[in-house]
Amino acid sequence: MVDNLIITEQCPDPFALVIFGASGDLTHRKLIPALWNLQQQGRLPESFILLGVARRDLNDASFRRQVLDTLQDDRNARDRAAAEVFVQRLFYVQGDYADLTTYRRLRERLDTLEPQWGTDRNRCFYCAVPPQVYPDIVQPLGQTGLSCEHSAGCGWSRIIVEKPFGHDHESAQRLNALLHVVFSEHQIYRIDHYLGKETVQNILVFRLGNSMFEPLWNRRYVDHVQITSAETAGVEHRAGYYDGSGALRDMIQNHLLQVLCTIAMEPPSTFDAYSVGIEKLKVLQAIRPISIGEVDRYAVRGQYEAGEVEGQPCQGYLEEPDVARDSRTETYAALRLTLDNWRWQGVPFLLRTGKRLKTRATTVTLQFRQPPHLIFPHASGLPASTLTLHIQPDEGISLSFNGKIPGPDLCLGTVHMDFDYAETFGGRSPEAYETLLLDCLRGDATLYGSSDWVEKSWELLMPVLEAWTAPSSRRVPRYPAGSWGPREADTLLEGEWRQWLNP
Ligand code: BG6
Repeated sequence: MVDNLIITEQCPDPFALVIFGASGDLTHRKLIPALWNLQQQGRLPESFILLGVARRDLNDASFRRQVLDTLQDDRNARDRAAAEVFVQRLFYVQGDYADLTTYRRLRERLDTLEPQWGTDRNRCFYCAVPPQVYPDIVQPLGQTGLSCEHSAGCGWSRIIVEKPFGHDHESAQRLNALLHVVFSEHQIYRIDHYLGKETVQNILVFRLGNSMFEPLWNRRYVDHVQITSAETAGVEHRAGYYDGSGALRDMIQNHLLQVLCTIAMEPPSTFDAYSVGIEKLKVLQAIRPISIGEVDRYAVRGQYEAGEVEGQPCQGYLEEPDVARDSRTETYAALRLTLDNWRWQGVPFLLRTGKRLKTRATTVTLQFRQPPHLIFPHASGLPASTLTLHIQPDEGISLSFNGKIPGPDLCLGTVHMDFDYAETFGGRSPEAYETLLLDCLRGDATLYGSSDWVEKSWELLMPVLEAWTAPSSRRVPRYPAGSWGPREADTLLEGEWRQWLNP
């Protein structure tokens, strides 16, 4: 039963959403369904349009047909009729991203459509293209004046940049510099879809919307924190990108470090982009840098070999299509991080992620310290209490602690208290892209990454990346598909009561 539901709703201004990469996978799998769902829920203004831009030879009519196909899956007839109406707001501009005339045509199209649709010249540009294309897009947006806002009759202008934001520290700096020539920081939205997940957002509500957990949230009570993002999927059709990237870049630099910051940050004074951004940056600044010489002590990588996942045989990473046969790319990465600040001094933060692991699950577990003195006989091996935030697939929170097993003897056992999102609140949680797109359209960057945060996250990981790519680096440890990763990862946990807590 849920009481006192407080909803903060603000409808975005009228807008034109311009998606670069309109014929791509991200647009059709995530962005258009997100926009459609938002509209169906009545969360969008009456006046909005979508302009798709891509190289593919399409026009308004064929783009709309494609979108109808995208939306068609398992929709009922009422939805189909609504979808027919929805696609009338969709338009298409065909062109090469590196060609200035594409942007001139885009501008002309906007100049014609905006007064017709009453979108007040508010523009949101979404870069749903491979990162090497970003510079081609950003510069002409500046040259054609499309990035300008609040001048010559323009409303606001925002740009959403997909991950990966850079390939290393230097390229992230370069990309920030390029964006800052054309856009001000308040116009730039660096997306990380993990921040749009319900349970990631709930971490702050859980911590700061209650007064009973925060007093425990520190080195006095917490022994260590584990953040796990395990996937059963392999690289699928993305080996072309993944083989040049690896688990550290793909998952840790962005998603897992964002989750870490949400767990470890100090309470901001207000819930807005500025205050939250400052506190998250302070967490990264507190992480003790790992020097190249220490990488083997604090970081472990792995690569999956053939095995079995959920009863299905799987080939090894090196046999996957488009993967170099001698690839040293890690499909598993684990880090042990230390935060040098008052709250977390001496509390290890253990991060791990991998493909083709045993189960698909993303969790954060705070393991509490053992009581200072155990008065019960035979209780020395008792597990420590834990609090686990289940981010996916089953969103919820669970607490494990010790209790007396009923009976004449004093026997202790571990009990679990579970809160399940779906069971408690029912209904469907919004897709991360719905939340994030809506936030950007409302001008709220709280769940987006700042330039400082992105650069600092890369800076912290550079020694690990350099050590792992050095020609003299050790062989990449292997793990069988369907396992919990390489055995070497156990070395990151020291002390007899610490071990990986597998979801
Ligand atoms: C993406 C990574 O950012 O996140 C993928 O590029 C990964 O490799 C995906 O599979 C995981 O996202 P989720 O939401 O399924 O946990």
